[in-house]
Amino acid sequence: MQGILEKIKNAKSSQELEALKVEVTGKRGVITLAFGELKNLNGEEKKQKAQELNLFKQEYERVFEEKKSEIEQKELLEKLQKEKIDVSLLAQNHFGKPHYVNLMIEKIIDYFSLLNFEVCEGSLVEDDFHNFEALNIPKFHPARDMQDTFYTKDQKLLRTHTSPVQIHTMQGKKPPLRMIAPGAVFRRDYDLTHSPMFHQVEGLMVDEKGKISFANLKFILEDFLKYIFGEVKVRFRSSFFPFTEPSAEVDISCVFCKGEGCRVCSHTGWLEVLGCGMVNDNVFSAVGYENVSGYAFGLGVERFAMLYYGVGDLRSFFEVDLRG
Ligand code: PHE
Repeated sequence: MQGILEKIKNAKSSQELEALKVEVTGKRGVITLAFGELKNLNGEEKKQKAQELNLFKQEYERVFEEKKSEIEQKELLEKLQKEKIDVSLLAQNHFGKPHYVNLMIEKIIDYFSLLNFEVCEGSLVEDDFHNFEALNIPKFHPARDMQDTFYTKDQKLLRTHTSPVQIHTMQGKKPPLRMIAPGAVFRRDYDLTHSPMFHQVEGLMVDEKGKISFANLKFILEDFLKYIFGEVKVRFRSSFFPFTEPSAEVDISCVFCKGEGCRVCSHTGWLEVLGCGMVNDNVFSAVGYENVSGYAFGLGVERFAMLYYGVGDLRSFFEVDLRG
């Protein structure tokens, strides 16, 4: 029986060790059989043999556990060596690609920077004044509700649109000015067509009173939409925003059915793509501007990207998809 302990001490792998365990304590293992034979003995002899066996069993267990942890250590080290990751190796076929939302923002910037619009960023965390108050959004307006806006503990909020960048820009500069502000905005909305975070591009142009008219706004937006979407028809519908007066929403003829009517345009032939208007005088007062006029517009980048790249589901912008 001592021979088996030597074998255990010399074992080289966990499989070998497991096999030896069976030889000792398995159904036909040496210890099992030896204990079984005790029933053939009597008295003092039986007692002595049982003691011997127990001592052997203890010795076996000690030797076994010692070898087991030695082998486990060794095998773990070997595994770590074999599976070592070489982080300096070049990745294959997993080069990053620009996101459609970023590509669309770049396209929009391309257009407006040719017209000398400055690109401004602003801040994602805003205060009530810049996001609402200065934009002529009254205290009781539903957009201010906890339901629609993410508030922080210290009375700040995540901007619900890029329009607060209008306020920051005017506070920091004297007119004339022209700027666009691309960036993320946040609303408490989540369903098929709404995501709690999405992107907008804001536009603002201000000059001496009388120098900028609705006709300028109309011309530039028509030209811009044709730059992005190609030969589309553009129409202005009168609308309302607290920070512009007059205000309009802008539609383009459906890029999928060319105005014939399809599911995407709800069989109207038109797609709404922009909000705009002449800057409300109350907004100019809030930033201390006098004797000026200007226009502003705002658009949703995901919507533009969906129409331009033919993406059917808004949520796919925010899922990981490695295809190009
Ligand atoms: N801020 C408006 C929105 O989020 C868009 C807008 C911007 C409309 C500027 C008019 C002028 O819906």
